[in-house]
Amino acid sequence: MKGTVHYEVKDGVAILTVDNPPVNPLSDGVRAGLVDNIKKAEEDGDIIGVVLTGAGRSFIAGADISEFGKSPDGPGLDEAFKSLEFCSKPVVAAINGSALGGGLETALVCNYRIAGPAAFVGLPEVNLGLLPGAGGTQRLPRLVGPAEALKMMLTGMHVKAKKALDMGIIDEISDDLINDSVSFIKKVSSESKDHPKVRDLNEKVLEARGSDNILLEAKAMAAKSRKGQFAPGQIIKCVEAAINLDDFDEGMKKESDYFIECLVNPQREAMIHIFFGERAASKISDVPRETPIKDIKKAGIIGSGTMGGGIAMCFANAGIPVHIIDQDEDNLKRGVSVIEKNYQFMVDRGRMNQEMKEGVFGLISSSLDYNDVADCDIVIEAVYENLDLKEKIFKTLDEVVKDDAILASNTSGLNVDSIAAVTKRPELVVGTHFFSPANIMRLLEVVRGSKSSDETLATVMAVGKKLKKAAVVSLNAPGFIGNRMLFGYTAQANMLLLEGALPHQVDQALENFGMNMGPFRMLDLVGLDLGWRARKLSGAEAALPSKIGDQLCEQDRFGQKNGKGFYNYSEGSRAPNPAPENEEIYKAVSAENGIERREISDEEIVDRCILALINEGADIIEEGVGQRAADLDVVYINGYGFPIWRGGPMHHANAMGMAEVLKKLNIYHEMTKSDVFKPAGLITKLAEVDGKFGDAPSKEERKEKLSFSESSVAGNL
Ligand code: 3HC
Repeated sequence: MKGTVHYEVKDGVAILTVDNPPVNPLSDGVRAGLVDNIKKAEEDGDIIGVVLTGAGRSFIAGADISEFGKSPDGPGLDEAFKSLEFCSKPVVAAINGSALGGGLETALVCNYRIAGPAAFVGLPEVNLGLLPGAGGTQRLPRLVGPAEALKMMLTGMHVKAKKALDMGIIDEISDDLINDSVSFIKKVSSESKDHPKVRDLNEKVLEARGSDNILLEAKAMAAKSRKGQFAPGQIIKCVEAAINLDDFDEGMKKESDYFIECLVNPQREAMIHIFFGERAASKISDVPRETPIKDIKKAGIIGSGTMGGGIAMCFANAGIPVHIIDQDEDNLKRGVSVIEKNYQFMVDRGRMNQEMKEGVFGLISSSLDYNDVADCDIVIEAVYENLDLKEKIFKTLDEVVKDDAILASNTSGLNVDSIAAVTKRPELVVGTHFFSPANIMRLLEVVRGSKSSDETLATVMAVGKKLKKAAVVSLNAPGFIGNRMLFGYTAQANMLLLEGALPHQVDQALENFGMNMGPFRMLDLVGLDLGWRARKLSGAEAALPSKIGDQLCEQDRFGQKNGKGFYNYSEGSRAPNPAPENEEIYKAVSAENGIERREISDEEIVDRCILALINEGADIIEEGVGQRAADLDVVYINGYGFPIWRGGPMHHANAMGMAEVLKKLNIYHEMTKSDVFKPAGLITKLAEVDGKFGDAPSKEERKEKLSFSESSVAGNL
């Protein structure tokens, strides 16, 4: 059995300590330990009450997520919770750290809750495609009211001890948690034999009865921020039951039924795949776990543009002082004022207070002199994509920055080995590909140069975690992981346009599939003119998929930046309006290239774009550019707006079944004759054995790795 609960006695109070490292989930051994030790405390006449706490940094991190979908051993959560809730002696939850999901639900079946100053609570089950299924949907609304409870459950937010106290989730905060909890038991047990149970508090749910407002607002919130997800609707139905049913246990029955519906829904498996996938991504298979990690006390950023400013905010938000260098005084002033405005925006929206703003903004300094980053532990270059310029900057950094500092390039496609080669410390050089806006987007591709040392990689992954990023390692190969996959996806969207579809049809079909933003809305946002200008300069001819975009640029249609691209935009608005005037351009380009336009179904649109991602992803895994299939899923969900509830493109392929993926690839290969659909070797192999995408092969087993070339995929992005 996994985990245990220790029992000790202090001044007549039983101290139960959940011990299931590192974060104390409610695994079978913990549930059994709770039942046995509560019984022991009940049976001992000298015991006046119970304090329940957690060993280490967590109180209880929830149900054991790895048990979902299996048949776990030992007593169920309901049995463990009944023994706590109906214990004849008072029970205090001494919340020493994170109390999340089933962890907070455990605290809610205790009579009292006291928290340490660093503790935090939350019901984040929605992030796993689940609802709080151990009474959370029935008890939290009784404690804090249905509106606040819904907000917590639909966002999955963490609530710090101080706020939890203000909301009434906990009763006290203490610096001396166990001693104060013992004294608390002594006091309350001498005063009364009756101790409060959250299940009996009805006032707040009764207040909400008869008005639909709270539920309507919750539905609107879920529709906006959790599009396509199944669990939010189930959570709302549970709270509706908490509000309207007189009998608490009837509400619990509803919660249990709705929980099981979530459990068997494929979204649950997909979202749990991403939970474990994000944690697996942070581990590099051939870098030992015990590799030392450098302490990053100060960071430097070269370049004060959108990327540089966003990256600086990430460090400041994590409490790490950061110094920005720019070569141009006006650029620097502008960049720093954008950062200040971004923080002010957060204050105006109530996301931070003035004091917090001053704290984080105060960690950012700036100047024009490279010597001012000499004492930094990591310096990230974030200038525009030009290899010569980046190499020049790295030469200078190598000379001025202390010898053991890490130098990183925020490149989206340049060769990290070329950049490392101009320094005397290639083992301390990596790529850190942030996504824009860097202070918001979670994805960080860490590009492993051929000489990057284990310590450098382990340190940068740890920095990624500190910055709250989903960090994924990619080998230094064209397009890395994300942009290489994107290339085929965007090319297919453009081919569909040439073959007869219209931008809004393609976008709608993919947004209905769950993509955050369709490809043409995305292209308009990025700007259509980047590739067009580069081709004009080099005299290169546009490849077929780029021909329509280039024609639009010839008509001064550059995208959102000038109010017209694939769509039209009204002044100051980002909302896309159809542009019927473009249809003649589409028809003309199709005709010039001998393509007969036809009706295209939504199914074909989704199949072709998503299969392009999957097929390229298979090669990325087989070449070992990405470490495992789940890494690619983490990249696509956190950087490219793939729906989390589908678990990422590779998980989606696993769910379709590899034989089905292969069948569809063959159909579209036959239809389009495009290499994009020529089934990847890995897919053919897996289809034969009914296999699934998993880990990349070891170095020895790998298909020959692509050599990096500036003129291949990366150059076309
Ligand atoms: N079950 C099983 N394993 C868990 C777990 C859980 N609830 N929570 C974390 N872990 C594992 C992680 O997979 C990781 O394993 P690894 O070392 O092998 O990769 C290890 O614990 C450490 O986790 P983190 O790297 O995430 O540690 P952090 O210190 O960064 O974060 C945390 C700690 C904030 C507690 C974070 O782990 C977390 O958010 N956990 C999930 C909390 C959650 O979602 N709880 C709800 C569970 S569902 C539930 O309770 C249903 C109930 O209503 C019936």
